[in-house]
Parts: sequence; structure tokens; C-alpha cells
Amino acid sequence: MSSDLDLKAASPILKWAGGKGALLSQFAPHFPALGRYKRYFEPFLGGAAVFFHLQPAESFLYDLNPQLIEVYSVVRENVEELISALKIHHNDREYFYEIRAQQPNELTSIQRAARFIFLNRTCYNGLYRVNRQGQFNVPFGKYKNPTICDEQGLRLASSSLQQAHLEVADFEVVLGIAERDDLVYFDPPYEPLSPTSSFTSYTSDGFTSADQRRLADTFRTLDARGCLLMLSNSSAPLIYELYQDFHIHEINARRAINSKANGRGIIKELLITNFRASD
Ligand SMILES: C[S@@+](CC[C@H](N)C(=O)[O-])C[C@H]1O[C@@H](n2cnc3c(N)ncnc32)[C@H](O)[C@@H]1O
Repeated sequence: MSSDLDLKAASPILKWAGGKGALLSQFAPHFPALGRYKRYFEPFLGGAAVFFHLQPAESFLYDLNPQLIEVYSVVRENVEELISALKIHHNDREYFYEIRAQQPNELTSIQRAARFIFLNRTCYNGLYRVNRQGQFNVPFGKYKNPTICDEQGLRLASSSLQQAHLEVADFEVVLGIAERDDLVYFDPPYEPLSPTSSFTSYTSDGFTSADQRRLADTFRTLDARGCLLMLSNSSAPLIYELYQDFHIHEINARRAINSKANGRGIIKELLITNFRASD
């Protein structure tokens, strides 16, 4: 790990729907004190805002999106080559569609990771959406001057990831590994507040109410095992019902509101824990 890098300053390298960066100050009172937990698990990694914030010594990070996990693996293993590959890219509409049309399997892992970061930084709202054939299909974002290659940010993220185990897996993988006193933070795709507000395009598969129940079962199993658990979700009635036996904290988030085309508003989300940080 480089000593000249301030690890505390590491932060997400991708824009990710549902990113928790803006909510960390509201989460702060609920995190367990350092030293209270052993290892850290984050099975819905996405933009990894909580991982980068906590900087745990030993961590297990999972996501169902293989392209995303590959990006973090390349950042960890080949950050200088990745930076060189990213410098080739530039923010131009025609160029964006040329890169978007590339077949990822014809690229090296470093080129693929650079392409993913480039598309993420220059596409509309940093969304990740693929069509039925698995091809990325978000349009050009029309940003004036997006940061495509944040060298310092990538090197900080690389240092933070050195001790991390990264894997493409469904969240239930934690059942086989997490032990007493490990901390697990779950940030699943949210249960929709209304049938029309569903946003399930993180992968080509949606995350259904049945998956929310499967997740609540996983939460209960790990609770019985003595793990420290935190989970984010929407304030949908199903979530209050599934986690009624645990501590439910209400969080104010600024999110895009579906009913207003491009509007953003304050919306109530939930942070559920099975412990009190003050205990
Ligand atoms: C709300 S996002 C996580 C946001 C992230 N915590 C952040 O701060 O940016 C949900 C993530 O869960 C992943 N995902 C969806 N279904 C999954 C499953 N069954 N198991 C593991 N990950 C899954 C998606 O690919 C997506 O990256």
C-alpha cells in the first residue's frame, strides 16, 4: 500500500444509481465503532460508497454485475495501465457511440474497464442499463467537461482495494462465509414505493419482492449467527413488515422522483440495523 496516499480520502470511482455517498453523514451515527467488528462484507457493491468510507482492513465485496466487478479487479491489479487506457478516451458524442458499439469480449480486461469507466462518466446520468443482449444502451450524457480519468482517485481506490476479496455472486454467498462479529452492509435494489416507480435495470434481471423476502431471510440467519448487520431500502410497506423486529432508522435522501420528469425531491429511505451503535 503506498504511504503517500491518504486512504481516508478514497471515494467512489463510478456514478452509480442508488449511490450512498450523499447519505454517509446520516449513516455515521449508526456505524459500529472501529474495532467492534472483524471483517466487512458488502454483497450489493455498486459504487461502493460505504466500503470506501469505512476503509475496512479485510473485506469481501460482491455484485451480480460481472462488468462492474471486473472494473474493481482491474483498478486493484493494474491501475497504472488502466489510467493510460483511460487517457485515450474523450468526451465527444460520435466517439461515445463508437466506443459504446464495441464488443466488450474483443477487448482486453484493461480496455474493457477503461471503456466501462468512460461510458459511466460520459453517458446520461451515469446510468447502467443493458438491453436483452447484454449490450450497454444508455445515451450520450452531453456533459460539458466530465472527469474521465481521475488519476489520484483511481490510485486511492486501488490502494483501498488491495486487501479486498472481489467476486461476482448473488448476495446469499455471505451465508457461507460471514461469522459472528463480522459487519455486513446490504444495499439491494429498492422495493418500489408504487408499482410504477420500479427501477430494476442494474442488471438485465429485476430484483423482485421474492428476492426482498429471500434477503430478509438471509438477514435473519446472519442475525442469529451474531453478525452486525446494516441494510438500506425504500420505505415501502413490505420493508417495514420484513424488518419489524429490528431497528429501523429513517433517512432523508435526495432522489429523482418519477412523477416529475427530471425533478428531484426529498424522499424517505430506511436504514435497518440489528444493533445500536451506542451499545
Ligand atoms: C443499490 S445498488 C448498490 C449501490 C451502492 N451501495 C452504492 O453506494 O453505490 C444495487 C447493486 O446490487 C446489484 N445486485 C442486484 N441484484 C443482486 C443480487 N441478487 N446479488 C448481488 N448483487 C445484486 C446490482 O448490480 C447493483 O450494483
